[in-house]
Amino acid sequence: MADLSIEVNGIRFPNPFVLASGPPGTNARVIKRSFELGWGGIVCKTISLDHSKVHNTVPRYGKLTDPENKKKVIGFQNIELISDRPFELWLEELAECKEAYPERVLIASIMEECEKDRWVEIVERTQATGVDALELNLSCPHGLPERKMGAAMGQDPELVEQVTRWAKDAATIPVWSKMTPNVTDPTIPAKAAVRGGADGISAINTILCIIGVNLETLRPMPTVEGYTVPGGYSGRAVLPIALRHVMEIGRSCPGVPVSGMGGVESAADALQHMLLGASTVQVCTGAMLKGYEMIAELCAGLEAFMDKQGMTAVSEIVGKSLPYFSTHADLVERQRQAKREKAGEAQRDDMWKGDIASETDSLVTD
Ligand SMILES: Cc1cc2nc3c(=O)[nH]c(=O)nc-3n(C[C@H](O)[C@H](O)[C@H](O)COP(=O)(O)O)c2cc1C
Repeated sequence: MADLSIEVNGIRFPNPFVLASGPPGTNARVIKRSFELGWGGIVCKTISLDHSKVHNTVPRYGKLTDPENKKKVIGFQNIELISDRPFELWLEELAECKEAYPERVLIASIMEECEKDRWVEIVERTQATGVDALELNLSCPHGLPERKMGAAMGQDPELVEQVTRWAKDAATIPVWSKMTPNVTDPTIPAKAAVRGGADGISAINTILCIIGVNLETLRPMPTVEGYTVPGGYSGRAVLPIALRHVMEIGRSCPGVPVSGMGGVESAADALQHMLLGASTVQVCTGAMLKGYEMIAELCAGLEAFMDKQGMTAVSEIVGKSLPYFSTHADLVERQRQAKREKAGEAQRDDMWKGDIASETDSLVTD
């Protein structure tokens, strides 16, 4: 049986599959359940020092379904904020989870306003619970940017560098900075995080979207008292976009581990993230739609892939497909070269056929 574990920043993950920050890690009970079922790690729902500022709406989710099969969810929108549970309660629960499952990896997702003291406080108090690493949420695309948090930070490379440095200076455990995909060039904030000292990069958070408009009421969805805001898109539909971000970040930040996420619903999806540079793969919407039990298929699929490819370590998969990216001009040149080689072969074949023909002719005449 293949060894599914992988070491990242000195942390041994029993397998590379991690539940992403969001509803799957919303309290100690579900975090423990995910460990019971075999997830390699979990990133808790993002926490902040003052939960009283967090006000969620109902509804806050919207789904894009297959027109042929309304039960099949293609894409998922949320306008959910970070955790609205008290920070002190979270500290107790994180410590409790880590104590109960010391072998499993628990990562705390944290977010604060753009003030050094607040970041230092949240880092110091959170890491004191014994969590293995911190993920800085610099990427939530809705609600929080109105308070200059989340993606408002992640879209500003100077802030990404600054906040990452504040966190790193206070941290004694690895720090991952989580990127927003709502930028033109994802390598700019990723490199800024690395300059700030990030030990790893997580990507992607959700993509700004509008899930649809109700043609009866003419109201965009999800509708809250008749109104809405653009939200974050996730689930299967975002996989190709996430893969591109992971690839670009992986190539631009060599040596810095990437935790890839976006659109993972199966082992095949996760493997593609890994082949493009992710050493761990996070799952949020997939687990919400398919249940935590999907971890069994992820591990079985990874193992079958490694056996088929003759790989013995998960790290062998990471970034294996990256060398096959090039420039468009290079593709054109390669194609020209291939045509030239084919034409050369054809010419050689013709000559060879000609030789045979003349030989046969000479045989006949002889
Ligand atoms: C309902 C919901 C809530 C989320 N809440 C958080 C959060 O609190 N912090 C965070 O960093 N990301 C949050 N995310 C983003 C996910 O962690 C993940 O980056 C994104 O959904 C892409 O992965 P997926 O396609 O597997 O869902 C949330 C996503 C969803 C769908």
